[in-house]
Parts: sequence; structure tokens; C-alpha cells
Amino acid sequence: MSGSRIVALGHYQPPKVLSNDDLAALVDTDDEWIRTRVGIRTRHIAEGETLVDLAAEAAQKALANSGRTAEEIDLVVVATCTAIERSPNTAAAVAARLGVRSPAAYDINTVCSGFSYALATADHAIRAGAARRALVIGAERMSDTLDWTDRSTCVIFGDGAGAAVVEAQEDDAEPGIGPVVWGSEPEKGDAVVITGWDPVISQKGQSVFRWATTQLAPLAREACERAGIDPAELKGFVPHQANLRIIDAIAKKLGLADAVVARDVVDSGNTSAASIPLAFSKLVERGELSPGDPVLLFGFGGGLAYAGQVVRCP
Ligand code: UT7
Repeated sequence: MSGSRIVALGHYQPPKVLSNDDLAALVDTDDEWIRTRVGIRTRHIAEGETLVDLAAEAAQKALANSGRTAEEIDLVVVATCTAIERSPNTAAAVAARLGVRSPAAYDINTVCSGFSYALATADHAIRAGAARRALVIGAERMSDTLDWTDRSTCVIFGDGAGAAVVEAQEDDAEPGIGPVVWGSEPEKGDAVVITGWDPVISQKGQSVFRWATTQLAPLAREACERAGIDPAELKGFVPHQANLRIIDAIAKKLGLADAVVARDVVDSGNTSAASIPLAFSKLVERGELSPGDPVLLFGFGGGLAYAGQVVRCP
């Protein structure tokens, strides 16, 4: 097996939108601070919808866009750090909702880098012959972890989901999902914390900011090298959507020439493991990327974990 490729993407965001002005009515903040420090203008917040609802909606759209059916899926992987139910896991619940029959189904939690981890494990499973066609989903209800009186976090996060249909390629085809570069700095794990049965997120924002803007560009570059592509040849760069200043700093260090850079954080806030597939799916839907385009995905955050790979646009 020569590898796997993304056949289609899909995404879903709950309809309720909170503006910066809405948040300024709750905590001591303002539109100017949020836009200049983080880049966010709006975020979507789930009300009646569960994590499984968000994940299933995105997966359903990806499936519809792929032209494949639920019966053809044999692996479901969900990246999330906001699953409340331990059993069944989110992947099994989504599979049941969609009518996927007897899949391997598991959740992955590497927080904000989760989608790139999940994509890598699906690719590896397909390469090993353990699966042929996968649904890979990033989904979060970050609002469940928010203290709505804490201005340092409640303005930053949002809810949503994105999904990819991934399938095996013919032996002689160029791999559509490049080698993953992944790792973590566990000694810095206390920089992003979500703990307890009624978890509240907290982060050492400046430490994570410094780590992201100084340590990650060489790792993102390594993902390009391992895929045999120069960053200047990329057509798209879809990093984790944490902060516009981080996105622009990494993009600048990579030396992109002709790439569309995902900046969905502006509209969606930080949706952790959902942010990459959500932003990627929107770029494809809007026609800003074309089939076959090389696109660098790069996730980073809690853990502190990171993962990235070059993929071919569906
Ligand atoms: O996705 C998971 C990984 N996480 C990240 O990648 C996050 C990386 N870090 C960041 O994006 C930024 O550090 C933040 C957006 C989280 C914070 O921005 P910052 O520029 O690092 O602000 P800061 O934490 O240094 O706070 C500066 C000031 C403080 O006031 P004083 O002490 O200078 O008086 C904060 O209390 O801004 C204050 N502040 C706010 N002011 C208005 C903090 N939050 C707010 C707010 N509105 N919402």
C-alpha cells in the first residue's frame, strides 16, 4: 500500500455566535484588546448540541462530499479534549449515529494538535492494512471548559467540528498524506491545564505563545522536508488556530511564497482539535485551494504536544 489520501472534508459550527462586544458585557474586556492580541472577532458556542452532535454533523458532510457511504467506512477516529462520556467513546457514538457498521473506533486526546495526530494514526492503519477507509474528525465543545468570569480564557475559545474522509491509494500513487512530524514537551505540560470532573481550562498564555513562536517553525519545516517539498512550494498552510499573531509568525518563518494561510481564528476563535479540519474545510469549500495542492497542516498546544504533515488537497 503506497499510503492514503484525503478524499473530502466537511465542517460544522453551532449557529449561536458570540461577538467581542457580547463578551465585553460579561467580563472586563473590549473588542480592541481581543482583536489586537488574539485576532478573534467572533466564536460559535453550542447550546443544545452535544460534542457528538457537532462531530456527527461534520462527519456527515465530509461523507456527503466524498460520495462514499457510511457502510464503506471501517475506521472512525475522533480527536477531542472535551469528551464528557468515557463510554461509549465519541468515535463509537458518531459511528452509531451515522450507521457505520463494525468500525474500529477510538478517540485521541492530544488537545490542540489532536487532528494531525488522528490523521497520522489513520494513515498508519491504512498503510498497515488494518483499515481501508476512515473518518477522521476533530470536534470540541470548548465552552464546557470555560469559566465565563475569566477574561483570559472565555474570549479565546469556541466550539465546532471538522472531518475528513481518508482512504487507501493505489500502490503507485504519490501519497496524499505525508510523513508526520510529532512530539511533545511534557515537562511544560502545566502550561495548558484542563483537569477534574467539572473541568475549567487555564493556560500560561505567554509561555505557550513564546514556545509556539520560537520552537515550532523548524518542526513545521521538517514536515515539509519529510514530504520532499520546499515550504515555498506549498499552496496552503493550515496551522492550529490559536492566535493570529502566532499564525503569522510561523508563516513568516517558514518562508511561504504562494500559500493561502488559514486565518479562521478570526471568525471561529480557538476550537482546539477542531480548528485545523474546520479551517481546511472552509478553504476548500470557498475554492481557495484546489485538488492536489500541497497543504501543510500543523497542530500545537496542550501537552505541550505538536504534530504536522503535508497533505494533498482533496
Ligand atoms: O490552543 C492552545 C494553545 N494556546 C495558545 O497557543 C495560546 C498562546 N498564547 C496567547 O495566544 C496569548 O498569550 C493570549 C491571547 C492567551 C494572551 O495574550 P497576551 O498578549 O500574552 O496577554 P497577557 O496574558 O500577557 O496579558 C496582558 C494583559 C494583562 O493585564 P496586566 O497584567 O498587564 O494589567 C491581562 O490581565 O492583558 C490582560 N488581559 C485582558 N485584557 C482585556 C487578559 N485577558 C484580557 C482580556 N481583555 N480578555
